[in-house]
Amino acid sequence: MKLADLPEGAAVHVEGGRSGLCLVRLGYDVFAVEDRCSHQNWPLSDGEVDPADCSIECTKHGSTFSLKDGQPLCLPATQPVATYAVCLEGDEAVVSVP
Ligand code: FES
Repeated sequence: MKLADLPEGAAVHVEGGRSGLCLVRLGYDVFAVEDRCSHQNWPLSDGEVDPADCSIECTKHGSTFSLKDGQPLCLPATQPVATYAVCLEGDEAVVSVP
């Protein structure tokens, strides 16, 4: 995906993996997590990104997840979401989905 298509600090849904991917660009870093909340399967790409702690909030019940490792940072979610490696190649972000 072109970096120019990833707005700074906003979540973007892209196809890939089982449930789609949620991509977030924060400065020179791009994060990719599964686009499905581990609590009740809500799309995380609908959520708000907090650049200060590199997290995204699920809009359904308010759990936040680390964009770095997918761990839930508050209830009600107790399980992590999958994260994927992102490589920056020129002006593109390339996500590795096993
Ligand atoms: S569905 Fe995300 S916190 Fe409940």
